[in-house]
Amino acid sequence: MEAYYTITIILVQITMVIQETLRLYPPAAFVAREALNDLKIGSLNIPKGTNIRIPVALAHRDPVVWGPNSDRFDPGRFANGIAGACKAPHMYIPFGVGARTCAGSRLCYHLCCQSLSLHFRQTTCIAQRSD
Ligand code: HEM
Repeated sequence: MEAYYTITIILVQITMVIQETLRLYPPAAFVAREALNDLKIGSLNIPKGTNIRIPVALAHRDPVVWGPNSDRFDPGRFANGIAGACKAPHMYIPFGVGARTCAGSRLCYHLCCQSLSLHFRQTTCIAQRSD
């Protein structure tokens, strides 16, 4: 039971590291959309047919959303999930947003988790052998 508890904590921490890595270094530069109708967002008029590109890295480093240390690598900011890490959860978009969000996002988390866990297991084994 204790081992299960330890592994769960390690997996949660690895997930936080992956989330923070995707925040600071998002592989997708933009999330793109086309306006299907004329839109008005605040004072901004967006005509039908306009291509909109949301710069992911800018959204992920905005200090208004992420706080004054938005450029610092700090996986701990995700300790309470995405909603706890920032003021506006929809500003965390490494896999896009809405109905067309990335179909492989869960697979990605699983693969990253798996390869990081294997890496740490091998590193720990080597460290123990050299003791
Ligand atoms: C780190 C790896 C990946 C990143 C950062 C990523 C990111 C993204 C982003 C930003 C989008 C656009 C979402 C949007 O417009 O809202 C997208 C779409 C998509 N991704 Fe990924 N992706 C990754 C890996 C994968 C993998 C491994 C698969 C499949 C196994 C996959 C399948 C798809 C598909 C099918 C779409 C189109 C979804 C749609 O338009 O309905 N992605 N991805």
